[in-house]
Parts: sequence; C-alpha cells; structure tokens
Amino acid sequence: MSEIIKLVSPNFSDLFEPSIEAGKFPDGDTHVRIPGLAACKGQEVVILHRLYPNQNEALVELLLIMDAVRYQGAKKITVVSPYLPYARQDKQTVDGEIASAHVICNILAGAGCNRFVTFDCHFLNEEGDTVHGNLNITNISMSKQLIDQARKLFEGQPFEVIGPDDGAAYLVETSGGSTLKKVRKNYEGDKIAYRHIDSMEGKFDVKDKNVLLLDDMISTGNTMIQALEKMMDAGAKKVICAATHGLFLYNCLDRLRKRSENIYSTDSILSPQSSVSIKPRLEDLFNPQSKLF
Ligand code: R5P
Repeated sequence: MSEIIKLVSPNFSDLFEPSIEAGKFPDGDTHVRIPGLAACKGQEVVILHRLYPNQNEALVELLLIMDAVRYQGAKKITVVSPYLPYARQDKQTVDGEIASAHVICNILAGAGCNRFVTFDCHFLNEEGDTVHGNLNITNISMSKQLIDQARKLFEGQPFEVIGPDDGAAYLVETSGGSTLKKVRKNYEGDKIAYRHIDSMEGKFDVKDKNVLLLDDMISTGNTMIQALEKMMDAGAKKVICAATHGLFLYNCLDRLRKRSENIYSTDSILSPQSSVSIKPRLEDLFNPQSKLF
C-alpha cells in the first residue's frame, strides 16, 4: 500500500520539522538535498514549501525539489505553498504585458505538480478545486479563522466585515459582509510596476460601529489605508485590519498603525503580525481521509 511522504522545506520550519536542505553554491546557484529521496519511489509525496519571501529563489528551489521527486518515480506530487507569488498578475492590463500568473502555473504543472494547494489565491474567487492554465489548484480560505480572531479582539461586541476590494468578495460574503469597489490607474514609473488607486467606492453604514476590514493580502498597504480612512470618515467606532497574506511592504505597518490599533494576518507569510495560523487547516489536509489523497 502506498503511503504519503511529507517533504518539508527549511522555509516551513516554523510549522513543521524540515526534511529538505536548501542553500547556495558560492556563485549563488541554488543547492538542494533531499535525504532519503529514494523513498519517494511509487509513493504519494507532499512537498511543503513557501514561495515567499524571495519568490524567484523559492520557485527555483521548488522546481528542483519537484523534478528530483518526479525522477524518483513518485506516484503523485502535491505541493503546499500557502502564498502563490505572481498571482496578482493574472491579466494583461497594457499591451505586451506578461500575464505571469498563468506562466508560473504552467511551469509548476510542467515540473510535475499534480496538485497545488494554496490559501486565498488572488485570482480565485472561491474556496475549492479549480484549474488555472495546466495547474490543478486547491484554494483554501482563511476567512473564518481571521473573522474568529476579530471576534476575540472586539471582545464579543458586534462588528461589520468589509472587503476593501471586490476581488476577495468571497472572504467577506460568508459573514454577510460587503466589499468596496477599487479602481486602479495606469502604471506609473518604470523600475517598479505599480498602479496607484484611482477610486474606492461602496455602500456601507458604519457610523458608531466596529469594523473588520478583510482582504486576501496587504502588500503596500495602500488599499487597506484608503479603506481605513473611508471607514473613519464615515464615523466608524473602531476599525481593525486583517488579511490572509501579510507582505507589509515599505513602511506600510507604520502607516497602518497610525490609523488602526490591530493589524493581523495568518502565518502564510511569517511576520510579527501573524497571529492566525494556517497549521490546523494544513493538518486536516494530511488526514488520510482527506479528498486530496
Ligand atoms: C486586490 O488587488 C487585493 O485584494 C489587495 O487589495 C491588494 O493586492 C492589496 O495591495 P496593496 O496593499 O498594495 O494595496
């Protein structure tokens, strides 16, 4: 009978005991070693590997790991990467732009990934199984856990759940929440491709109410800050901010803290704000009764 073999990258060591060694050669090339690799032959293999931070390096590591496991004759390869980099680049917004989400998905599928398990993937709008490019994806949502955390922080007082961006509507809809509609401008600058926010509109009545702003990710924080200011202008009592993935780029946390006393995320990407863990949901996946296996 086949068993499930778990291979854990060092970049997942906060949650699971690592079983893969990853480092560098003197010239910067990636060096990976999987002790006991031969045991993967004929087995179902689950690779736990974060793809952020250092997404390009982490992708190369994953390609090397997958190729080695496939070469050993693994029966099925499932990759668990809580945050999928490049997922925001799923559409071409200007002529000639590469829709890199599609490219990355196809590369992962081509390298032998039979199923990619991730959390609140930016280009997906519901939890569950789907296919993007050639890649089979299982998208897991952390919205319930993030909302439960807000319940504790608001100490049982009622609160509204509002999504700053309608792209992640499914995160807030389960709790009867609503979303704002964000429109971005065209790209500015040439070194860092970034589209500033043009407008953010929506219907909400938050006067004297507590509010949880919930999004799939906080990156530069500009979306969250604009939404926070809208809530404060509308007379909200207390606003807290949460996201599945906290990238917290630049001085975003300082800017957020000036406007909100609670900002938190999951540990899909590790940071001091990671107060909700993805681990229980991952452990559910490893249950032999899980439909993944
Ligand atoms: C939509 O684009 C996403 O749901 C997030 O709102 C966005 O990625 C957050 O980016 P930033 O923090 O840079 O505004």
